[in-house]
Amino acid sequence: EKAGYDHFMLKEIHEQPEALSQCLAGRLDTTDISLDDVNLTADELKQYDRIQVIACGTAYNSGLVGKYAIEKLARIPVEVYIGSEYRYRDPIIDDRTLVIVVSQSGETADTLAALREAQDKGAKVIAICNVVGSTIPREADEVLYLQAGPEIAVASTKAYITMLMAFYMLAIYFGRAKDLLADEDSRRLITALKALPKQTQQLIDENEDKIKALASEFANQENSFFIGRSIDNAVAIEGALKLKEISYIHAESYAAGELKHGTLALIEEGVPVVALATQESVLDKTLSNVKEVKARGGVVTGVTLAGEREIEDLDYRIEIPETEELLTSILAVVPLQLLAYYVAVERGCDVDQPRNLAKSVTVE
Ligand code: F6R
Repeated sequence: EKAGYDHFMLKEIHEQPEALSQCLAGRLDTTDISLDDVNLTADELKQYDRIQVIACGTAYNSGLVGKYAIEKLARIPVEVYIGSEYRYRDPIIDDRTLVIVVSQSGETADTLAALREAQDKGAKVIAICNVVGSTIPREADEVLYLQAGPEIAVASTKAYITMLMAFYMLAIYFGRAKDLLADEDSRRLITALKALPKQTQQLIDENEDKIKALASEFANQENSFFIGRSIDNAVAIEGALKLKEISYIHAESYAAGELKHGTLALIEEGVPVVALATQESVLDKTLSNVKEVKARGGVVTGVTLAGEREIEDLDYRIEIPETEELLTSILAVVPLQLLAYYVAVERGCDVDQPRNLAKSVTVE
């Protein structure tokens, strides 16, 4: 049932183009998003002055991208909370708060408890979930299913990428409902969303061998760093989590500009650093951080857009297909998943069943 792949994780990475297509299926027309399963009128949406996203692990990381997308397109402030922290902070919720919980399995205990807490306090809850009929979507007020197909490997890949897609669709939907997104801008974004499944396939086809080779550079390391700015920072956090959980290499993610506030002290000769640099508007700033890393002997792998200028400070470079600046996360995460996978294989780790971890965390 691994369809010829050595591991479920690799199979699921390769299923991402199809998972993205399924996630989009029936939900896009040329200028608008239709989410039949989410019952939220434009008038109702205008009443919300705040959104809270609650999730754990990789699902939480998708919320960090969701925050950027929703704030950018719909101008509603978004707070992202870790499921296991939410209840213990006496969260500020009222009927002007919209809550979005995110969970692949739909069974994560902390996320479920947070959902119940939010509902008790009167909030409407939208669930973004993959497993149909699981507890979280059954209890939520509205559900947006990922339609990614079953995810077996403990490390989440195709669920994460479709969570990003779900957030982009919601952000456009909210932006349109609030009359903040002009027809032309919406059309441009939707055209770009539609291109992502094919671009993801192209990215895998063009880079897998290169990343496999790069993995041997990482395999003997004890420490690594992932840096980026804005959306790239959110993707860096997910890249570091993926590498840690399956290869057991210590990986830290930092907002690129935070390096010089402490972490730079850890960069020494030969330490691998993955620099996400897909955001044209902050590229020069990220590249100045890359320079700081290089000056201390770090070995830098850059993830950039194809067609971007020459960047001399990079030791290795992985290029993702060009897309809208807001949407790069979907493409940028793929090389990080492949890197984590091939590093773990190189180190002889049990990729699909990493030590100490379970696919569905039903205890708090
Ligand atoms: C990491 C991973 C976990 C899950 C987390 C939440 O690859 O898979 O961090 O993302 O346990 O699980 P769900 O999404 O099922 O609530």
